[in-house]
Amino acid sequence: MSATKKLFVKTYGCQMNVYDSQRMQDVLAPLGYQSVDEAEGADMVILNTCHIREKAAEKVFSDLGRIRKHKKAKEENGTDKMIVAVAGCVAQAEGAELMRREPIVDMVFGPQTYHRLPEMVARANRAIGNDRIIDTDFPVEEKFDHLPAQVSQQGYSAFIAIQEGCDKFCTFCVVPYTRGAEYSRPGMDIVNETRQIVAQGTREVTLLGQNVNAYHGAGPDGDEWTLGRLLRELSEIDGLERIRYITSHPRDVDDDLIFAHRDLPKVMPFLHLPVQSGSDRVLQAMNRKHDRQTYFDIVKRLREAQPDLALSSDFIVGFPGESEKDFEDTLDLVRQVGFIQTFSFKYSPRPGTPASAMELQVPEEVKAERLARLQDLLAEQQLAFNQNCVGREMDVLLDRTGKFEGQLVGRSPYMQPVHVNGLTEADLGRIVRLKITAAKPFSLAGELVEEGGSERNVA
Ligand code: 5AD
Ligand code: SF4
Repeated sequence: MSATKKLFVKTYGCQMNVYDSQRMQDVLAPLGYQSVDEAEGADMVILNTCHIREKAAEKVFSDLGRIRKHKKAKEENGTDKMIVAVAGCVAQAEGAELMRREPIVDMVFGPQTYHRLPEMVARANRAIGNDRIIDTDFPVEEKFDHLPAQVSQQGYSAFIAIQEGCDKFCTFCVVPYTRGAEYSRPGMDIVNETRQIVAQGTREVTLLGQNVNAYHGAGPDGDEWTLGRLLRELSEIDGLERIRYITSHPRDVDDDLIFAHRDLPKVMPFLHLPVQSGSDRVLQAMNRKHDRQTYFDIVKRLREAQPDLALSSDFIVGFPGESEKDFEDTLDLVRQVGFIQTFSFKYSPRPGTPASAMELQVPEEVKAERLARLQDLLAEQQLAFNQNCVGREMDVLLDRTGKFEGQLVGRSPYMQPVHVNGLTEADLGRIVRLKITAAKPFSLAGELVEEGGSERNVA
């Protein structure tokens, strides 16, 4: 048995990184590494980084500055060293540069290599002098094949990576470079992993992929499963109550997926379908491979199939060449579609992407002004949707305790946090029917609709 060692993992960026961080902890557990909440005194620190926008990447360097002090302190007063590792997309994109800029970094490894962590850790522990480790290959299939079959216990709501990488090459995006080509896990691997975590108490799964609806995994009979087919298979699992998936590309919304929303009550009526821009000119320059009318058509078909469906999206303002008219097209699309939750960003030029070399970069102050206008409109839509929920009954999966005694918080089908009073921790993990009594910009409050009609306290 190895002695216990302290592992501190910090995660930046998307849900895929949150999932990867969890799996890194699973891989390192047999070596005696147990997770702790702070870098100070840790035997190993992993920064699982994000490269999607400039700010995210810069954060890593400022955090490394802080970690330098902890590493020094540990070396001065202890015997064991602190291994500092940078993982994820910054590692993939800038591994060598990172090593050069930050001498304290012992190990750099990309998103596709963490199944090889035990070996890397052993080498880092033995390393003398300048022997540092860098592993930024792309052996995707190998990774999924070599991760421990036994996943660690997850919460009532869990994530499962089903697809990774992207072949779309939107001109602003680093993902095809940092995560590599599209790869889909075999269907039955996902079904089995889901069965396993459902047996441990999970009630909701969110299927993860950079381009999740491009999923085309091998089925058991040599056929190929689409995401729609996978959703059907997962729907059959007893004890699993809710299924979500993120992030989708409009181009890959096919009939199978639309029918899944129509036919499968476990598939939540909420879809994150990034459109990025409402201008045909900009969509084309972004290489999104569809125009605004196509987006309207897809949304229409989805809503016909599932009238309760609500949408969220990502937006980029200030893409190179975006005119005021282009931006107004985006506002117009937002008004026509109506979104209930969104992420919106100023365009951030990423090294090595085609858009970063385009002429007509939009000045920072114009980006800021457009972002503020867009976010005002989106916030208005979000609040209106939340207010419209008041008086409705919703099924809420209770998954954490609230700030106050007796208060629990759960998620509505639309991912809104819902607060409810008068319950106990024994109710965690239940899906309860709540009548919504109040709405805020980012959350709701509800009261229990008891069988028999009597109601408990309200948040
Ligand atoms: N600049 C700004 N936003 C970006 N995104 C991706 N790349 C960039 C970039 N270079 C946004 C997109 C994407 C989300 C995950 O991040 O909106 O959907
Ligand atoms: Fe990036 Fe476009 Fe792929 Fe999404 S679809 S990950 S935005 S390249």
